[in-house]
Amino acid sequence: MIINKSKVVIVGAGAVGSSTAFSLVTQGICDDVVLTDINQGKAVGEAMDLRHCIEYLNRNVRVSAGTYEDCGDADIVVITASAPYVPGQNRLDMLGTTKKIIDSMVGPIMKSGFDGIFIVISNPVDIISYYIYQLSGLPKNQVIGTGTALDTARLKCLIAQKIDVDPRSVHCTVMGEHGDSQMVPWSRVTVGGKDFFNIVADNQDRLKGADLKQMVHETANAGWEILHRKGNTNYGIATTTAGIIKTILYNESRIIPVSTLLCGEYGENGVFAGVPAVLGRNGVKEVVEVRMTDEELLTFKKSVAVIREFSSQL
Ligand code: LAC
Repeated sequence: MIINKSKVVIVGAGAVGSSTAFSLVTQGICDDVVLTDINQGKAVGEAMDLRHCIEYLNRNVRVSAGTYEDCGDADIVVITASAPYVPGQNRLDMLGTTKKIIDSMVGPIMKSGFDGIFIVISNPVDIISYYIYQLSGLPKNQVIGTGTALDTARLKCLIAQKIDVDPRSVHCTVMGEHGDSQMVPWSRVTVGGKDFFNIVADNQDRLKGADLKQMVHETANAGWEILHRKGNTNYGIATTTAGIIKTILYNESRIIPVSTLLCGEYGENGVFAGVPAVLGRNGVKEVVEVRMTDEELLTFKKSVAVIREFSSQL
């Protein structure tokens, strides 16, 4: 009997890469996790540490340190490597340095024979995902940026906190750039099936001063709030990435907002942007076209224009 094993290679064993590995291992999402890093010692150390978790977990996940050659038979390659954060910069400022790092990686990964799914975390994620799509020559469904998946989780936490419910009972989607211009189609936000505007109207006491613009700003800014305090973000993005990987490997058809190539959806073409997408074994199965108000669509398109402007500088 041939058993298909699932293998995930994580490129970059820094805080994001090693936390992603930790999330995969503790949840037992795949059979093999391989960590690679330009600092091979760091990858070896993280892999050793992660292997020692297995005794107290539900299943054995093989964890090792490897090289780009390990991508050859990988189902998923996660790209975490990016420019170090310089205070005062935003994600777009990181483009030049990150691009150089990506340049050195994609060639050897493709040379290994890789024909799986790239999951891109490196910032600015929408632009880097597009760049990896171009460099790799893989079909569009096989290149996915984590995009606004994490921003969506962050907004759910914020709304949930205000009305004191479980974040998983909040339905909302952050769309557009994983960055300052991201937007929220508020007309589509529901909690327990109830329209968010009705919730605001019916709960003036609890939601007094709920300023939607401020909530969008707080969501977009959450990464920086964390970064200024601890120097990086890792658990949120790592768990988000593990969630995307689980959806793909288990062919769940779960809808998650990710950065994907738009081909006519929302009237946009040739640009990666955060939109809700159905994810399965082959990556992006379908983009969900949310019907929004004209004003929301305009805000979404403005955010896409920001991504497009920077993508044209590649
Ligand atoms: C964040 C990084 C992943 O927002 O961009 O946490």
